[in-house]
Amino acid sequence: MSASVRVELGERAYDVRIGAGALGSLASNIRDALGATPARALLVIDRGIPHERVDRIAGELERAGTILTRAQVDPSEQIKSLETYGRLLESAAQARLERTDPVIALGGGIVGDLGGFVAATYRRAVPVIQAPTTLLSMVDASVGGKTGVNLSSELGGRRRLLKNFVGAFHQPRLVVADTNMLASLEARVFRAGLGECVKHAMISGSDELLSWTETNADAILSHDAAAVGELVSRSVTLKARVVAGDERETQADGGRALLNLGHTFAHAIETLDGVSPRGSDEQGLQHGEAVAIGLVAALASGEALGMAPPELAPRIRALLERLGLPTGAAGLPRADDLMSAMIDDKKTVGGRLRLIVPTGAGQARVVQDPPDSAVRAGLAAIGAP
Ligand code: GLY
Repeated sequence: MSASVRVELGERAYDVRIGAGALGSLASNIRDALGATPARALLVIDRGIPHERVDRIAGELERAGTILTRAQVDPSEQIKSLETYGRLLESAAQARLERTDPVIALGGGIVGDLGGFVAATYRRAVPVIQAPTTLLSMVDASVGGKTGVNLSSELGGRRRLLKNFVGAFHQPRLVVADTNMLASLEARVFRAGLGECVKHAMISGSDELLSWTETNADAILSHDAAAVGELVSRSVTLKARVVAGDERETQADGGRALLNLGHTFAHAIETLDGVSPRGSDEQGLQHGEAVAIGLVAALASGEALGMAPPELAPRIRALLERLGLPTGAAGLPRADDLMSAMIDDKKTVGGRLRLIVPTGAGQARVVQDPPDSAVRAGLAAIGAP
């Protein structure tokens, strides 16, 4: 199954090409997207991708006439830093990239964010091509132009990792999502991406994507090529629609902010030491797992606010469990401490607490400055004592 989804952004519009083996046509797709085969390119590579795959992809680009410079990156939140960004900028300079030469980001969300930010800023912007290799980056991070790095900073008397604190909107010129790349992913990493897919279904505007995901859960988990291809294509279609409607997340309610469903809670717990998925031997939390847990919290907050219908939470929990995703966390600090930290963090960085709250199957709303009781209900639902 192959599909192409257009992200309709006027003169910045681009295609997301999805399919098994899609990277086999990367060179010709880049030529079509840029109008010519680039003379040079910086290929930013996720160190987790098998060498033979990278060599095959790089070889095809070189045969098409592009001089490639390769730069490897470890996919970790600590590495998504100003230091790595600086190193990649140097690689771009050493590669003698001109304004028309692209950065190609081959990897998961961290590589995409780093590569995209280098492209956004090197010589005041060069094109970026996103070639996502994880489910999470295919359905979310590679589409929509958010790029950036984390900032490690002393704030309020302690060192914090401020996620995505430095960055730019820089839309890719092309996204190529080769679903064959998903077969070699660790099962846990693949499942984590499903957290973002469920999130998309929960803001899709109707029950249809949610029902489709429920019906196809087993096929997706067994890596059925047609089901996985359709999942990626449906999820990207939703994301493309949201981004086209509110590219820079400026709408007060609805719009791109809805993509943050579950993320207020996810960000609060995902980097805490000693926190892991409830009922599992896995250590730490993957971002997609934290999002799954965050969805459960958001549903409980929605119920406490009288906005989420009571039948929705059990339905979403059942789907997450079926997909092998956590619905709670072990090792969480006390709800009071967690809540003060969430509120403090927001205040320290000059923001306000914002919750995205499910209001029906496929529906959600933005709630600014939610009452403490609603946040507390969310934290209790995911296991904060
Ligand atoms: N991942 C959220 C967004 O792209 O807006």
